[in-house]
Amino acid sequence: MPNITTKYLGLTLKNPIIVASSGLTRNIDRVIECEKAGAGAVVLKSLFEEVLAKEDFGMKESTVDHTEAYEYYHAHLELLYGARDYTDLIKEAKAQTSIPIIASINCVSDAWWPDFAKQIEGAGADALELNVFTTATDLTMDSAKLEKLYFSILSNVKEKTTLPVALKISPYFSALPHVAVELGRRGLDGLVLFNRFTQPDIDIENVKLKTTFAYSTESDMHLPLRWTALMSHYLAYDLCATTGIKSAEDIIKLLLAGASSVQIASLFYEKGLDEIATLTAGLDDWMAQHGFESIADFKGKLSFHKASESGHYLRAQFMEKISEVE
Ligand SMILES: Cc1cc2nc3c(=O)[nH]c(=O)nc-3n(C[C@H](O)[C@H](O)[C@H](O)COP(=O)(O)O)c2cc1C
Repeated sequence: MPNITTKYLGLTLKNPIIVASSGLTRNIDRVIECEKAGAGAVVLKSLFEEVLAKEDFGMKESTVDHTEAYEYYHAHLELLYGARDYTDLIKEAKAQTSIPIIASINCVSDAWWPDFAKQIEGAGADALELNVFTTATDLTMDSAKLEKLYFSILSNVKEKTTLPVALKISPYFSALPHVAVELGRRGLDGLVLFNRFTQPDIDIENVKLKTTFAYSTESDMHLPLRWTALMSHYLAYDLCATTGIKSAEDIIKLLLAGASSVQIASLFYEKGLDEIATLTAGLDDWMAQHGFESIADFKGKLSFHKASESGHYLRAQFMEKISEVE
């Protein structure tokens, strides 16, 4: 039987499948269900910075312009927990399960929440995931300034806590490898590629705006695959792939590209947590068939730096492939 344990954020996971931050991990009963179904770890439903801001500073409305967080918050969050509820959830999860519990904060600034990281550590979380997203609408802010926001969020939290810290980011960077390396220099322990957002839309009947949300599809997996493969070789910390993972094959591909673990939400919403057993069985079978005894035996084997035909990762307009379709 192959060994499918993996290391992520310095933690040992019994398998690389993490239930992603979502309603699937929003309360203790659901976290227990995730463990029973065989998850390697869970990322708890995010606590949104807006909630912290309201609690700590008595703000009626968050001044932060963050449509995505707002929509996530209202679209499927029947829960409206605050900071105390969140640390209670961490404590309960640690007391009642034995899988790693990763707390999650959805932050848009470095202003309100870093002190809370200390409380998360005190509550017993095994690690902290920071879900950071800013929409570049300010004409005076260039990309270097925007990137500095990520660096300062990370540095502030690393000052306050000894917990391993992962950053969950969007793919919208002009020079992601540079940012990724700089984050490493500031002590990042893991990068989650990539977050997935609600999208703006227009209701043409009523001539007004609306927001849409749809589960991911398998074709979404190729974006994290590309960036995992391009960066895994030179980053000293772990990569965790998320978005569009639907099968054991997808997980194997991402491990081959160099990911240490994966995070999944949509598949479990659509087909249930029992899918975890199918995914781990598929991983087991493939490893046995290929003679791999542990994940370390093949992790990163097809990263950009190791694959013999690595150009596949670079070609975005591969004429040969396109002409096959034309
Ligand atoms: C219903 C739902 C709620 C989510 N809530 C959060 C959240 O609170 N915080 C967060 O970082 N990501 C959230 N996500 C994003 C997931 O954690 C995950 O990164 C994303 O859905 C991509 O994985 P998937 O393709 O398997 O769905 C949510 C996703 C879904 C489907």
